[in-house]
Amino acid sequence: MQSIKTYIQWKKEEEEARSVFKRRYPAEKDPYRQRFHLMPPVGFLNDPNGLCFFRGIYHVYHQYRPFDPAGDGAKLWGHYGTKDFISWHRFSPAGAPDTIWDRDGMYSGSALGEKDGIHFYYTGNVKKPGDFDYIYQGREHNLIGAFSSDGRLIEQKKLLITNEDYPEDMTLHVRDPKVWKEDGQYYMVLGARSREDRGQVLLYTGEDGLKWRLLSRFSSSSPLGYMWECPDLFPLGGKHILIFCPQGLQPDGMRFHNGDTCGYTVVEDDFRLGGDIPSFEELDRGFDFYAAQTFSGTGDRKILLGWMGLPAPHENPTVPYGWQHCLSIPRELTFKRGKLWQEPLKELSALRGSGRKGYLHKGEKTRLRGKCFEALVYPDKGNFHLAFRQDAELIYDGKILTFRLGKSGFGRKERKCCLPDLAFLRIFSDVSSLEIFADGEVFSTRLFEEEGESGIQELALWDGFCRWEMYPLHPFVWDNKE
Ligand code: FRU
Repeated sequence: MQSIKTYIQWKKEEEEARSVFKRRYPAEKDPYRQRFHLMPPVGFLNDPNGLCFFRGIYHVYHQYRPFDPAGDGAKLWGHYGTKDFISWHRFSPAGAPDTIWDRDGMYSGSALGEKDGIHFYYTGNVKKPGDFDYIYQGREHNLIGAFSSDGRLIEQKKLLITNEDYPEDMTLHVRDPKVWKEDGQYYMVLGARSREDRGQVLLYTGEDGLKWRLLSRFSSSSPLGYMWECPDLFPLGGKHILIFCPQGLQPDGMRFHNGDTCGYTVVEDDFRLGGDIPSFEELDRGFDFYAAQTFSGTGDRKILLGWMGLPAPHENPTVPYGWQHCLSIPRELTFKRGKLWQEPLKELSALRGSGRKGYLHKGEKTRLRGKCFEALVYPDKGNFHLAFRQDAELIYDGKILTFRLGKSGFGRKERKCCLPDLAFLRIFSDVSSLEIFADGEVFSTRLFEEEGESGIQELALWDGFCRWEMYPLHPFVWDNKE
């Protein structure tokens, strides 16, 4: 019989891992620690989880494996909180695999901030010891409901649904509940892999958030990956948007070069009916973006956070420094020009230091100090070729925007997106990442340059003409230093 650790034991081990990490890799010796992104305090971070707004605080939980930068082994839930997306507090892990239903990992899930506290829904991962394939046999994916009065500690875990309750044509991979309330009713979407190795999203409903019944399913008429992970379904601009992450896609023109892909479809009819999705578009055109989730604050503004990483990752040189991955900057979603439109959250402007602006003609450069900056570029219509950081390039031919990385990409080479009449670019550059916003699309990537944080950067225009503005960006403010 496998023994199950208590939360207190997990917490102690996490504290030890953090203090060893701090001694071994002080931030000043690590050339890649980010300044305005959420990173694991030690070890491995993946999906954002349990995003919710509760009593004036935005809570951001995440998949967390403090003991191992490669991410193998049972996952905990890390926890951050903020009122403004600039000043942050890092809390102790909010939950750990401490029951028979989640003993091999508190997998991804969501949260609802209600009057009495925060209600959580997540997948309890169980891997039975033995010689199993863990797809058809040997695994449990349990739907667990839990509660916290203040968000700090996820308690009162209850087993709500087990694999036996899911439709018979499902494998044992049914996970990542996203729960929301609409018109007084509870709804939940779950990512699933069918026995025919087709991805699906199961839609459930219920009256009390505890008892659930299957309402319908979303599927695709032609194959679109073998598993759909991390779904999210929400109203936006009079429609519903379904986000999910198909695994195992083959490249298709400029799309799907990451294999595991985070994207969305617009649900035109009543979402309750499910059915075959009409389309699927990538949420990010770059190299590192997955498992995105949304939440709102007081209004109905939709804020999206993603994992700036992938299940099948590139070799990241942060691993020898004891950590891996980070979350994306928050994006605000609207529905515009027939698509999901993404902009950096407006609060991030408070990170700006005093800016400079000017014009660049073909062959000219401008200089700035440091890697943390925001650049606004207004290219004149037509072609341009912009170069920045060690070897990042943006090339536009009037129709297609190409994003290219050299050595600093560690295997990340080139991505393209069709963007006719591109007139404005917004680049967020942190120590080891870039997020490039262009006409509602985003290219996200990690990059790892040879030299450290200091040094002069150049923004060079090799072709075309543009107006630019540039702001150094301050780091996040921590009330408990990492
Ligand atoms: C996506 C994912 C989820 C799962 C979690 C485990 O990255 O595989 O489907 O719940 O990560 O860490």
